[in-house]
Amino acid sequence: MLAAGRLLIAPSILSADFAALADAIALVERAGADLIHVDIMDGHFVPNITIGPPVVAALKRRARVPLDVHLMIEEPDRYVEAFAQAGASMITVHAEAVVHLHRTVHFIKSLGTKAGVALNPATPISALEELAGDVDYVLVMTVNPGFGGQTFIARSESKVRSMRELLRAAGSTAPIEVDGGIDTTTAPRIVAAGADILVAGNAIFGSPDPAAATRALRAAASTPVAS
Ligand code: DX5
Ligand code: ZN
Repeated sequence: MLAAGRLLIAPSILSADFAALADAIALVERAGADLIHVDIMDGHFVPNITIGPPVVAALKRRARVPLDVHLMIEEPDRYVEAFAQAGASMITVHAEAVVHLHRTVHFIKSLGTKAGVALNPATPISALEELAGDVDYVLVMTVNPGFGGQTFIARSESKVRSMRELLRAAGSTAPIEVDGGIDTTTAPRIVAAGADILVAGNAIFGSPDPAAATRALRAAASTPVAS
């Protein structure tokens, strides 16, 4: 499922109608979504609150593609087991929220779940230098986490390029996920820089036609850009 060089589209339901999440998921799945990105926020690590394991379990009963669960919470170790049991296929923790990151990554893997580490825009890629061979994927935040609909941070492009180099140097083929401000304009360049998994909330569910927007994002991301 996860490999560098394979483009995956992961619509984020943060921008969907929370009263009709099952419909939102079905719509983008029919349009070819590879993953469903689920944003978990606790009001502490980020200034916003969303959902917890019971809602993830409900989504799992309706989703056909894997659930990609992005934990923007303090002390994620206390909750990864609950999210794995709820049906997460991928669990991402933030490097800034974890003290013993090596332990946490291996704990997530021991639950039979893919383990990813997210880096905020201000966190250098060196935070992952010692773990490059351990993670199943890396999430490079392309906005400061907390809200949908923010503007892509342009410097993310060189950060993704450097992250790809860091992984390559470690002999890792882990894919790089990007999250925040991804749309048909930003996707081609960030893919050219080395991103593999594109999270998009506003560009998909903020659109009047989320299915068409899902297809458009894949088409844009698959179009080569002149460097
Ligand atoms: C932001 C979340 C994102 C969010 C992206 O904190 O982690 O997953 O849904 O939304 P857009 O694509 O609207 O920037
Ligand atoms: Zn996210």
